[in-house]
Amino acid sequence: MKTAVYSARRYDKTMLAQANEAAGHELRFLEDRLSRETAILAKGCEAVCVFVNDTVDAEVLGILANQGTRLVATRSTGYNHVDAHAARELGIAVVRVTDYSPNSVAEFAVGLLLAVNRKIARASVRTREGNFDLDGLMGFDLHGKTVGVIGTGKIGTIFARIMAGFGCTLVGYDRYPTPAFEALGGRYIGVDELLACSDVVSLHCPLLEETHHIVNAAALARVKRGCVLVNTSRGGLVDTEAAVQALKTGQLGGLAIDVYEQEASLFFQDLSSTIITDDVIQRLVSFPNVIVTGHQAFFTVEAIGQIMRTTIDSIGAFARGEELVNRIPD
Ligand code: NAI
Repeated sequence: MKTAVYSARRYDKTMLAQANEAAGHELRFLEDRLSRETAILAKGCEAVCVFVNDTVDAEVLGILANQGTRLVATRSTGYNHVDAHAARELGIAVVRVTDYSPNSVAEFAVGLLLAVNRKIARASVRTREGNFDLDGLMGFDLHGKTVGVIGTGKIGTIFARIMAGFGCTLVGYDRYPTPAFEALGGRYIGVDELLACSDVVSLHCPLLEETHHIVNAAALARVKRGCVLVNTSRGGLVDTEAAVQALKTGQLGGLAIDVYEQEASLFFQDLSSTIITDDVIQRLVSFPNVIVTGHQAFFTVEAIGQIMRTTIDSIGAFARGEELVNRIPD
């Protein structure tokens, strides 16, 4: 099936082509992000493959539908970037990757937590410059601390299991509690109580209307003073400007983020030779107790391999008129 693959980086091309070897779909790799301006590049493609920062709103879907696109396959679990309602109205099926190594994200969240708490990135920069001073690098033991997990699904539960291994006390908040979290010794409590008692809060719930800015100024006023916030889920869960204020006052003791509200205009590209006009991200990276990575938590050989295989399988199933097991929920 003719498929336009947007936001295709070198690794996308290599690994998707590899997954496609037996299936033999005709893949048109495009480095551009999908937008109303670039939708024309998918002309003649029945399927369009996108990533998290592509624009897949009603207008873009309308253009794609007029050009003959019948399937949108997102190479991600989250699908908040796709207007599911518009797709349904236009008769475009949308598939995602429901299952790929949740360990990749959970392990990265732990890595970010250690990096920000123990100042690992700062220390590495220092030693490269011959500075072996320890001043400013002091962290705290995670052992014995309380870790709050918001969203105890696949990734949240694995994160919690790893933190249990560190000897942390686990508290969780989820709309749909699961026995798996409790089996780790985790205790479900209300979100306000979780914020108030946790030394570390890690976000693992999806971005929905009800979770947008779940960490806002009011929530940050409730956190235990000095709390470290980790977000590997979606940028929109945190009101970033409120987080900057909380960092300034010391209410937030550290912030480790792999996702950022305004990441669409920044992430997945090299902007090192340009003037970055986003003052919030520039302020964020200026804090010594903040670490920002560019949406790379999923980026392991295992996860990417699975993402590409599932995407090719979904395109194949669609071409054969089979049931789409990875269709996004109605
Ligand atoms: P999942 O669906 O297994 O777990 C999500 C959990 O959030 C569920 O237990 C659900 O009940 C809970 N939840 C739903 N609404 C909630 C609410 N209002 N309040 C609290 N909890 C709520 O999803 P999974 O695989 O664990 O992924 C979690 C998130 O991680 C995804 O939604 C995605 O945004 C993010 N993600 C980030 C990646 C990265 O590279 N940074 C890669 C993959 C996923």
